[in-house]
Amino acid sequence: MLAIRLVSGPARPDSLALPIRPASAAEGGDAPAALPVGLPVPDDDVLAEAAALAPAARATGRAGEVHMHLRPGRTPGRLLLAGIGAGDEAGWRAAGAALARTAGGETHLTVGLPDDAPAEAVRGLVEGLLLASYRFRLTEAGERPALAGVDVLVTDPSRYAGVVTTAEVTARMTHLARDLTNTPSSVKNPQWFAEQVEAAVADQPDLHVRVRQPDELAAEGFGGILAVGGGSASGPRLVELDWRPAGARTHVVLVGKGITFDTGGISIKPVAAMKLMRKDMAGAAAVVAATLGAAALGLPVRVTTLVPLAENAVSGSAFRPGDVVTHYGGITSETTNSDAEGRLVLADALAYAVAELKPDLLLDLATLTGANAVALGKRTGALYSDNDELAADLLTAIDAAGEAAWRMPLPADYVEHLGSEVADLYSAPNQGAGSVLAALYLREFTGDLRGRWLHIDMSAPSWADGDAAELARGATGWGVRGLLRWLGTLD
Ligand code: BES
Ligand code: MN
Ligand code: ZN
Repeated sequence: MLAIRLVSGPARPDSLALPIRPASAAEGGDAPAALPVGLPVPDDDVLAEAAALAPAARATGRAGEVHMHLRPGRTPGRLLLAGIGAGDEAGWRAAGAALARTAGGETHLTVGLPDDAPAEAVRGLVEGLLLASYRFRLTEAGERPALAGVDVLVTDPSRYAGVVTTAEVTARMTHLARDLTNTPSSVKNPQWFAEQVEAAVADQPDLHVRVRQPDELAAEGFGGILAVGGGSASGPRLVELDWRPAGARTHVVLVGKGITFDTGGISIKPVAAMKLMRKDMAGAAAVVAATLGAAALGLPVRVTTLVPLAENAVSGSAFRPGDVVTHYGGITSETTNSDAEGRLVLADALAYAVAELKPDLLLDLATLTGANAVALGKRTGALYSDNDELAADLLTAIDAAGEAAWRMPLPADYVEHLGSEVADLYSAPNQGAGSVLAALYLREFTGDLRGRWLHIDMSAPSWADGDAAELARGATGWGVRGLLRWLGTLD
């Protein structure tokens, strides 16, 4: 990962980036962008030149805008003006991401911050730099970003040490979730995923992991995980990861959908819809990474993370439409469509959490339906909860972290569609509003935690078709940032 250093000066001779902000309304809408006061750059000539360059380059100061000026034979050799918008965390995050891309050909960059910069500015800058410079490659061939180090130039480095660590852990865990999700499914079967979790927790105190094998799943009645995993040569697993800090008062259970490839099963997907289905474990990757992040940051909240892992394959041993599945705890469902597999594995994990772990809060994250993108577009997760306060708190954390989610309803008049003639529930009633129906189905397994349950359908924002701000093409690691923020607010 890109190395970040907090320094108080002097700037290295290569590339120096300075922030610019839009002129305030008081100065008139057409006034050129301006440098903030109090930049810790010792060379007044450089500051004067940067101030003169802003209007000359017609810089607006909008967050994410970068202008680069070459200064051959002089120091620094390049001067970059980076728009920070309102100068808040989001503005600095966008600036960091844009700098990582613009300065990509350089190996080193110094970024100056004004002496009154709040800690959130540094957090945003560092997250933007680190997240945007992510690349997924399985081989050493091909281009990698050259940028290897960034000096963050501030008046008082000791003020920001804590937020730099938080930003680094957040980015490292987001990178882990992206790596897991980008990995091809020829490598990434349920056993492989479980081994990655085991390797990540090895010899870390207060972190424990248990992996249930297929025979253990059968003995304990995890019928949904076994049904979905039954068609694959790579058997299913259930990972239980526990971060248990001494003195924790709140216990959260996180559940992540871990379908290592989703063919749709017997209800097979068409080519285009199947193409990216190696990402169908992005929820599992996010909850695991967030839990490891909570441990790395020492957050004082107990987190138990459940990851039901299965490959939804097509074969003679695959489960069929019309089969009746008995979930953990005994609720039965008629599997109307084998492509509605995510809710079957999640149902087991939710029921297990309620019956055996009895947490204070229950949250699941899943690439659950294509309908998420139909309703909300490509960047926004669909959040469901019966609890207004919990929903609002989670939305606030997600928003502050730079991710996006939108609260969706759990309408009472849709519940009747879940009724089956031969079992307790239909797995996929044919009534439209697919993301809503999936959420209503899951709610049936939340027992007495119904009012303390949150669900996010994150199939849309789990993937980016191209580089965009801090997102790199491919898996986005969506959820890691928001969950870590949210966990940080609990105690
Ligand atoms: N994994 C898919 C959902 C998905 C779709 C994720 C597109 C990411 C991008 C899920 O298992 C699925 O197939 N859902 C079905 C549900 C339907 C059969 C009720 C869907 O969305 O079509
Ligand atoms: Mn499916
Ligand atoms: Zn799926």
